[in-house]
Amino acid sequence: MAIERTLSIIKPDAVGKNAIGAIFSRFEAAGLTIVATKMKHLSQAEAEGFYAEHRERGFFNDLVAFMTSGPVVVSALQGENAVLAHRDILGATNPKDAAPGTIRADFAVSIDENAAHGSDSTTSAAREIGYFFSELEVFARTR
Ligand code: PPS
Repeated sequence: MAIERTLSIIKPDAVGKNAIGAIFSRFEAAGLTIVATKMKHLSQAEAEGFYAEHRERGFFNDLVAFMTSGPVVVSALQGENAVLAHRDILGATNPKDAAPGTIRADFAVSIDENAAHGSDSTTSAAREIGYFFSELEVFARTR
């Protein structure tokens, strides 16, 4: 099994529901280690840059407005097959399709406000972790 890193964002709706700790617990229960984390209120430019690949999508402006509507918690997670392991516990993008017990099923109500983001590949993860963290801000698991 490959040890990977992935980027998590706990989105403004889940932060507003006081669910940061509950979601962190799910990461740890799934064997993922938080190796970097910070709380941030994204600027419009930061949100647009992060989601640049979706710029032509009809939902782009709504997504940027939502992601800048309140603070988020960005984290780098490390573990075996971290990209897929994280996406498994997030559940489907649309919470209506998310399996029971997943983060989006339990904390999100709509595709517009779906509680959390997870990188979709190791390539995206490297770009996304680098977008928010310097190398010195990402820690190795030590024990
Ligand atoms: S893709 O490229 O088709 O797989 O797109 P997808 O992963 O489904 O979605 C990309 C991100 O856009 C968000 N999204 C939306 N936001 C607002 N409104 C609508 N209708 C909508 N549809 C998708 C979705 O939550 C994804 O955000 P992240 O943060 O990457 O999970």
